[in-house]
Amino acid sequence: MSTAINKYIGQHQQRFIDELFDLLRIPSVSADSKFRNDVLEAANFVRDKLLAAGVDEAEVITTAGHPVVYAEKILDPVLPTILVYGHYDVQPADPYELWDSPPFEPVIKDENIYARGAADDKGQFYMHVKAFEAMLQTGGLTCNVKFMIEGEEEVGSENLEDFLQENQQRLKADVILISDTSIISTETPSITIGLKGLSYLAVEVTGPNRDLHSGVYGGAVDNPINVLCKMIASLKDENNKITIPGFYDKVVALSEAERTALAKAPFDLAAYMQDLGLEAVDGEKGYSTLERTGIRPTLDVNGMWGGYIGEGAKTVLPAKAFAKISMRLVPDQDSDEIARLFTAHFMSIAPATVKVKVTPHHGGKPYVTPLDSIAFQAASMAFEEAWGKKPVPTRDGGSIPIVALFDEILKIDTVLMGFGLDSDAIHSPNEKFGVFNFVKGIETITLFHKHFSALKNKL
Ligand code: BES
Ligand code: MN
Ligand code: MN
Repeated sequence: MSTAINKYIGQHQQRFIDELFDLLRIPSVSADSKFRNDVLEAANFVRDKLLAAGVDEAEVITTAGHPVVYAEKILDPVLPTILVYGHYDVQPADPYELWDSPPFEPVIKDENIYARGAADDKGQFYMHVKAFEAMLQTGGLTCNVKFMIEGEEEVGSENLEDFLQENQQRLKADVILISDTSIISTETPSITIGLKGLSYLAVEVTGPNRDLHSGVYGGAVDNPINVLCKMIASLKDENNKITIPGFYDKVVALSEAERTALAKAPFDLAAYMQDLGLEAVDGEKGYSTLERTGIRPTLDVNGMWGGYIGEGAKTVLPAKAFAKISMRLVPDQDSDEIARLFTAHFMSIAPATVKVKVTPHHGGKPYVTPLDSIAFQAASMAFEEAWGKKPVPTRDGGSIPIVALFDEILKIDTVLMGFGLDSDAIHSPNEKFGVFNFVKGIETITLFHKHFSALKNKL
C-alpha cells in the first residue's frame, strides 16, 4: 500500500511544488494590515486546494481577526480522526534588501525552496494537504482527517481560543498533528516533544517632559535610555539567572534521566558558533546550549529605541526610552503570572528620576507531548520507516501558544512532527525549505496515518 502512495507522491511531486509556489507568492503577512486582502486570498487558496484534494467540505471561517480555514473528510465515523493544525500567515519579510531573491517570488536554488513562509509554515502544512491527496487518490486513506489552518499564528493566535471554544464538537479528534517545528538534521530525524511558553511586554521609561540639550542638562538630569539600560542589565545576574523574584518558582526541574535522554541529541557547538558567526556562547550557568534553549526559561530584549537615530549626530538627552522584552517559559510557568511578576519587579527597580509604564502583549503556555501515547509511538514509527532511523526526542525554544489550549479546551494531545531545519532561517531573510524535506515529509505523514490507525484499531 505504501508503495502506491509513494509512487503517487513521486509522480506528482513537481505539481505539488508548483502549487506550493502559488501559495508562497501570496504575501499573507498577518502583522501588517496593508496585507489584509492577501491574507484573505491565502485563506481562499487553501480552501480551494483542500477541496481539490478531496475533502467533503472546506470553509473559510471569519473571526474577529484573520479567518480560519476548516475542512474535513469523514470516511467513517467509527474510524480514528486526525486533526491537522497549521498556519497560512507569515512573518513580515523586512528587511527586503537582505534577501538574495524577492521573498514572495519563490525560487529553487541548491535543492531548497527560498521564500517567506517556505518552512514556516506554508511548506510544512501544505505537506499534509498533499499527503491527504496521495492517500485518498490511491485508496490508502485509513482514518478521518480534519484540517484547521489559521491566519494569526505569527501574531499570537488571539482569536483562535474563541474558535476552539465555539467549535469543540466539530474539532473532535483523537490527535492533533502539526508540522511547524524542525528536525535536528536530515541525517538525524527528531520529534519535538516540548514547546516553550511566552510572555511578551513593552516598556516605556519617561524622564524630563521634553528632549533636552545633552550639554546643558546632561549629568544633572537622569537619561531615560541610560536608566533603561541599567534596569534591563539588572534583570540577569553574573550567572545569567533571571533576577525577577518568583520567576523560577514554578519551573519543573528535569530528572537526571530526562537530562541524560535529551543530551543524546547530537550537537556540534563549533558548527553552531560558526553558523552564527560567533566566537563564543554564553547563557545560564550549569546548563548546556541545548538545555538553555530547550528546558530553561529565558529573557531577551527584542528591540530597544529612543533618542536620535537619524543620520549624523544630534546632541540630545531624550525624554523617553522604549524596549520590547520577551520571556520564553517552561512547564509549569504561567504567562500571565510571569507578566505580573515582571511588571511589579520592573516598577520596583525604577529610580525616582523616571516614570515607567509596562504593557503586556501576547503570551502563551508551554507544552510537553506525552511520550507514552499511541500518537507519539506512531510518529516515532513513521520516522523510523521513512528515514531509516529512530527519531531523537528534542525540546525546542520556539512557541506555538495554541497547542497548550488544544490540551486545555479540546482535551486532545498534540504530536509535533516538523520537518524544517534550524538553518532554514524562519523569520529571517532568505527563509528556505529543502525539497527533500518537503517530499520526505509528505511520505512520513502518510506513514503516521498508517501507524496511528493500526495502533488505534488494536485497542
Ligand atoms: N513555527 C514557529 C514556532 C517554532 C519554530 C517552534 C521552530 C519550534 C521550532 C511559530 O510560527 C512561531 O514563530 N511562533 C512564535 C510565537 C509568537 C508569535 C506568539 C514564536 O515562537 O516566536
Ligand atoms: Mn510556525
Ligand atoms: Mn513563525
